[in-house]
Amino acid sequence: MVEIKTAGELDAMREAGRIVGRALQEVVKHAAVGVRLAELDEVAAAVIAEAGATPAFLHYHPSFAPTPYPKVICASVNDVIVHGIPGRSRLRDGDLVSIDCGAYLDGWAGDSAVSFTVGMPRARDVELISVTEQALQAGIAAMTPGNRIGDIGHAIAQHAVAGGYGVMVDFGGHGIGRRMHEDPHVANYGRAGRGMVLRAGMTLAIEPMFVAGGDGAYQVDRDGWALRSVDGTRAAHVEHSVAVTDDGPRILTLP
Ligand code: MF3
Ligand code: CO
Repeated sequence: MVEIKTAGELDAMREAGRIVGRALQEVVKHAAVGVRLAELDEVAAAVIAEAGATPAFLHYHPSFAPTPYPKVICASVNDVIVHGIPGRSRLRDGDLVSIDCGAYLDGWAGDSAVSFTVGMPRARDVELISVTEQALQAGIAAMTPGNRIGDIGHAIAQHAVAGGYGVMVDFGGHGIGRRMHEDPHVANYGRAGRGMVLRAGMTLAIEPMFVAGGDGAYQVDRDGWALRSVDGTRAAHVEHSVAVTDDGPRILTLP
């Protein structure tokens, strides 16, 4: 079931998304060489708590994971693609960091992610992040009424192909609304003109995650959560929660 939100409900989702955007903004501000990932988790937790919102990831237990998620953010460094659990390890010079965060406010979910480097960046990482961001914008631009889910995945994958990057087959975007993960699944690849027709009032989390190495193969860490590239190459992940409207796509997770 895909729920069509009213204009008022989209405004409520915007407020949930704004808190996620602010949490990510604060995390990026605090991230630097030498900072522990767990400190970044505390920064996000504080923003969410002060806003009267609830972390969406904490205790979340999807079927693919062995245990409930133990933190507020995912912090995925270098060859970790997504779902890195922030622990005591410190950021190092030149790290590529992806931070994913979700929150509920007044019964509505927001979900967003950013990627950035700390210290002296590697040119290849800057390029990978830039192309992943372009793919996110292309996916969002495809979210117009009458287009289809496959148009989103197709738009995203074109950027991966152009950059020679790998796309994960098993993970992608998703519907979002009263719950963080709803139907439909939004793959980061697809055939233009195929799949569910988009209608005004649908809300989707669009989240390209590109692996530099090119085949997108991943393995799961021993913690059962972190997804790491098999070839050891780095990955970037960016995400926005977005509404389809008659006036064009509306990004819900900007600060
Ligand atoms: N944005 C991520 C996703 O949609 C959120 C993962 S939530 C976690 O898959 F709790 F499972 F980490
Ligand atoms: Co998501």
